[in-house]
Amino acid sequence: MATNISIKNIAQYDGQEVTIRGWVYNRTDKGKLQFIQLRDGTGITQCVAFKKDMDAEQFDIAGKLTQESSVIITGSVRKDERAPGIPGGFEVGIKSLQLVQMADEYPITPKDHGVEFLMDNRHLWLRSSRQWAIIRIRSTIVNAMRNWLDNDGYMLVDTPIITPSAGEDSTSLFELDYYGEKAFLAQTGQLYNEANMAAFGKVYCFGPTFRAEKSKTRRHLMEFWMLEPEMAFYNLEDLMDMEQSFISHIVQTVLEKHQEELKILERDTSSLERVLPPFPRISYDECVERLNKLSDAATDPEQKQLLHIDWGTDFGSPHETAVAEMFDKPVFVYNFPSVFKAFYMQPVEGRPEVCRSVDLLAPEGYGEITGGSERIYDSALIEQQVKKMGLGREAYAWYLDLRRFGSVPHSGFGIGLERTVAWICGLPHIRETIPYARMLNRKYP
Ligand code: 4AD
Ligand code: MG
Repeated sequence: MATNISIKNIAQYDGQEVTIRGWVYNRTDKGKLQFIQLRDGTGITQCVAFKKDMDAEQFDIAGKLTQESSVIITGSVRKDERAPGIPGGFEVGIKSLQLVQMADEYPITPKDHGVEFLMDNRHLWLRSSRQWAIIRIRSTIVNAMRNWLDNDGYMLVDTPIITPSAGEDSTSLFELDYYGEKAFLAQTGQLYNEANMAAFGKVYCFGPTFRAEKSKTRRHLMEFWMLEPEMAFYNLEDLMDMEQSFISHIVQTVLEKHQEELKILERDTSSLERVLPPFPRISYDECVERLNKLSDAATDPEQKQLLHIDWGTDFGSPHETAVAEMFDKPVFVYNFPSVFKAFYMQPVEGRPEVCRSVDLLAPEGYGEITGGSERIYDSALIEQQVKKMGLGREAYAWYLDLRRFGSVPHSGFGIGLERTVAWICGLPHIRETIPYARMLNRKYP
C-alpha cells in the first residue's frame, strides 16, 4: 500500500509511490494524457493520467473530471522542473484513480468574477490559491503573535464577549437582549484585561470584537479579531519598545515561512524586510505641524485640503498615509488629544488635553494597525472619566475596584488581526483577510 502524503511534503517522496487525497483544481485534456492539478489543502501538484499506464475505466473517469471533483490518486512521484504547482517541480504519474464525488458545475472558474459574486461564494472562493495564501498567512500571524507572547512570559487570559458595558465608546455597540436586560457584544477585552493584569502581571486576550460602525471603508469590519496585551508597571516608552519587537517578529516570521504565498499574492517584500526595531516615534503635535506644512506646500487644491488638519481632530486616512510616508518603517504616533481618545487613557502631566496614547501606523497606506496607551490608575480620576461617559456607574463598579485595590501604572494595546493581514499580504481591501467578513452590507455566507 502506498503512503498517504500531504502535497507540501512531496519532495521527500521523489521516486516513491504515494497516495494523495484531494480536489481537482484544474484539468487539461491532451487526448491520451490528462493533466490534473490536484490540491489537498497543503498545496497543488500536477498528476498525469497516461492511458497506457491505467485501468481503462479509471482513465475514462480522469477524462471527465470536473473542477473541484474529489478524488484519491495513487501514483509515483517524479522530479520535473517544468511541473507547475505549490510546490512545483514534481509530478505524479497516476497508477490508480478513485472518484469520491463528481462535482456539479463549479460557479468559480478561472475567468474574472466580480467581487460581490466572489463574496457571495466565499465558502467556495476560499479554495482558490490567492485566498488560500492569505488565510495561511493569517494563521501564521496568529501563531507568531502567540508564540512571541508565550515565550516572553505573557499569559493568555480570556475575556467575555457578552458584556454589561461599553469598553471603548458608546457609539458603536451591538446591543442584545439578555433575558430582559441590555447587554453588548464586546468592543474590546481591555477592561477585563486590566483586572487580569493585576492577577497575573503580563497578560493578553485574543478574540472576536464587535463594532457597530456605519463605516463602509476598506479597513473596517463589524466583527474583527483583536489581540490585546496588558502589562503591569509599563509606561508608554516600555509599551512602544515591546510593540516594535512584537510586530517585527510577526513580519519576519511571515517572510521566513511564506515566500511561496507572498509570491502568489505578488507582494513586493522589500518594505517588509525593513520592519525591524527601532521604529520611529513622532508626537501628534509634530504630525499636525508637518501635515500642515505639507498642506501649505501642496499645489493641488484637493491635496491641500486633504492634508490640512486642525489640532484636536483625529487623523483621516490621508493624514495617516502622509505621516507613514515620512518614514520607511512603521511609525508610532503618540500623545494624542484626549478629546477623541478613550476614557481610560492617562493624561500627560501638566498637559491634560493630551494623553499617553500611541497608535502604530503601517507603511504603504495601511494606516492604524495598533492602538494603545498608559491607563489612568488614579481612583478619583477614573471615577470622573466613567461619569463623563454617561453609561451608569453600576456596570463599571468592578472596573473602578481595580483602582482601589493595589492600583499600579500599567499599559496595553490592541492589534487588529485583519488590518495586519491586509498590510503584510499587501491587500487593497480588508474583506479578504478574514474567512467570513461581516460588513455593513454583508453577513452571508
Ligand atoms: O484602537 P482600538 O479601538 O483600541 C482598542 O480597542 C483598545 N481597547 C485596545 C487596547 O488598548 N487594549 O482598536 C485596536 C485595533 C486598531 O488599531 C485596529 O487595528 C483594529 O483594532 N480595529 C479594527 N479592525 C477592523 N475593523 C474595525 N472596525 C476595527 N476597529 C479597530
Ligand atoms: Mg484606535
